Amino acid sequence: MAENSSTNSKSPNRYTITAALPYTNGPVHIGHLAGVYVPADIYARYQRLQNKDVAFVCGSDEHGVPITIKAKKEGITPQEVVDKYHGIIKKSFEDFGISFDNYSRTSAKVHHDTASAFFKKLYEDGKFIEEVTEQLYDAEAKQFLADRFILGTCPKCGFEESYGDQCENCGTSHNATDLINPKSAITGNKPVLKETRHWFLPLDQYEGFLKEWILKEHKKDWKSNVYGQCKSWIDDGLRARAVTRDLDWGIPVPVEGGEGKVLYVWFDAPIGYISATKEWAEREGKDWKPYWKNEDTKLLHFIGKDNIVFHCIIFPSMLKAEGSYILPDNVPANEFLNLEGNKISTSKNWAVWLHEYLEEFPNQQDVLRYVLTANAPETKDNDFTWADFQARNNNELVAIFGNFINRVVVLTNKYYDGIVPEPADFSEVDTQTLKELQAYPAVIASSIERYRFREAQQELMNVARLGNKYLADEEPWKTIKTDEARTKTVMYIALQIASALSFLSEPFLPFTSEKLREMLTSAPLSDQKLSWNDISSLPLGEMPKGREGLINPGHQIGKGELLFSKIEDEQIQQQLDKLEASKKANASTSSATLNNAIKPQKEMIEFDDFTKLDMRVGTIIEAEKMPKTKKLLVLKVDTGIDVRTIVSGIAESFKAEDVVGKKVTVLVNLAPRKLRGVESQGMILMTETAEGKLSFVNPDTSTPLSTDDEVSNGASIN
Ligand code: 2FM
Ligand code: ZN
Repeated sequence: MAENSSTNSKSPNRYTITAALPYTNGPVHIGHLAGVYVPADIYARYQRLQNKDVAFVCGSDEHGVPITIKAKKEGITPQEVVDKYHGIIKKSFEDFGISFDNYSRTSAKVHHDTASAFFKKLYEDGKFIEEVTEQLYDAEAKQFLADRFILGTCPKCGFEESYGDQCENCGTSHNATDLINPKSAITGNKPVLKETRHWFLPLDQYEGFLKEWILKEHKKDWKSNVYGQCKSWIDDGLRARAVTRDLDWGIPVPVEGGEGKVLYVWFDAPIGYISATKEWAEREGKDWKPYWKNEDTKLLHFIGKDNIVFHCIIFPSMLKAEGSYILPDNVPANEFLNLEGNKISTSKNWAVWLHEYLEEFPNQQDVLRYVLTANAPETKDNDFTWADFQARNNNELVAIFGNFINRVVVLTNKYYDGIVPEPADFSEVDTQTLKELQAYPAVIASSIERYRFREAQQELMNVARLGNKYLADEEPWKTIKTDEARTKTVMYIALQIASALSFLSEPFLPFTSEKLREMLTSAPLSDQKLSWNDISSLPLGEMPKGREGLINPGHQIGKGELLFSKIEDEQIQQQLDKLEASKKANASTSSATLNNAIKPQKEMIEFDDFTKLDMRVGTIIEAEKMPKTKKLLVLKVDTGIDVRTIVSGIAESFKAEDVVGKKVTVLVNLAPRKLRGVESQGMILMTETAEGKLSFVNPDTSTPLSTDDEVSNGASIN
């Protein structure tokens, strides 16, 4: 077993490839695919084609505060939140051909056990420091408050609903203790400071190790964005980080004094990679340990740039502290993908959701994979635009790749009833073309090995370009009339290129590759014995009898089927319209937020509570201003049951004479109460505009809850 060591130029047979565990509080979008999952999948598929032993693992990150907040908002349990999104996310990955060997989840027992044991080992080995600090506490809810559970007035802009860590109005980040009039988002009470004990990983003690391991060993082979971030963290000096939290959702702290506390989500999540490997190994009857403990295993973490510190500094320090694990060989983090010039945002619905994409572009997973790789944010943030999506599909996939394959398959069927012809002697052009073809596997491999997936995919397209050029130069559609032998040779060579494409495209365009294999060989890819490198050993020069190509004379290919189809302007316009609608919705929400901050939802009520409310349609038959008040009108309302007096605080929004004759919704069984000496026997329901004016929602029917003018007084609303 390894005593935490790494070599920086491994060329092993065993690969442990991890992809960041997505948070399980929403579906996944194109930014996720482009930044993490497509590059990781290309890499994993490529290594499998190289006959390497690969464990490609991922899973849902199901703990942490955002999930508990989502649960509170929706009035469901955190477990219900993660159950819902785990299913949706897992399906999206499957639908897009992300070929995980295991997609697990951090609420799984194997993960709780693994993360608990990991924490315990570090605790027992004295790797943590314990500290008592003061944190905001809600005495009524008996709960310490995470930043997002504290609301108050922003000390910078005065916005009254700022979060504990950040003001959504002016964007400033601050400490929860800086808020003016802080209140708990759970009960509305003022929180108090209370002492709490936590466990910290003293990262400062790992500085020496990190300097040696990252700054010396990996200066050359890690991407400059990754190396740069690590260097700046290390240069700034590392501090101890708390690895436990006061929350009731997560993995319980498994040591004395840990009651009511859970592991910090960023402590447990990366251990999820280990748990997912264990779960997979158990299912496959394998031993998980070599994938995490043998020095000859290459461990790689595919992530987005916001996760760099956790994967390059904190998790390696945890692994180092534990002592028996290997360290990552590389962490090829990507930058971010924007959408039509703006940051992708879940809350603003500024995103292309994978499940929605598939409804609108069914069976076109490879088109999106292709475009996202062609535009991958490998060295800087990049932009996804629908115009580029259409252009790359129509001008590259359809016009170059699809066109070449279509010509080869159609002509082979037309000239030879789909039977691969016997070639005659190769000309210089033929030999040269095959030589060029032979070189591609190594060229593409070299780009993939260096995590340059855009470049690798461009080289793949160059194979299709080679095929198109060869056909255009050799013109079999002309020679068929004059030179039968020459035409057979040309078609034979074109078929070799098509066959090579079916292999080389597999990491990038897995669905297309599978279709193409079936089209060329009438058998699925998994049944093919050839490997990536077989393409490099094509016979050159004179074609000796019996010498094997990628696809051999006499073999019957299938009928043509279009691999890609043109995307029309209307389809693109629909997507742009959808985004425009999000933009409009955001503009109106944000102005409403500024003018009239949306109040948090009140506590849940049971259905029985609701049915206690007796709401009726009524008509205001008299109205007069309550003397010496600004806000109150005294109304006589015909409720259908009776005519009663209701004192209503609507005088700042309506004149008495304007409301007479209006139909309104009345809560009739509200206990009577005296206002300025007048008994009010119910309540009129109104809504408040962004400017704070009261209004009837529907000015025509004069009632917020009934839209039918003909409804008679006394009709129930439920
Ligand atoms: O940023 C995120 O979506 C995190 N859930 C990634 C976790 S990666 C790993 F450590 F599990
Ligand atoms: Zn502010």
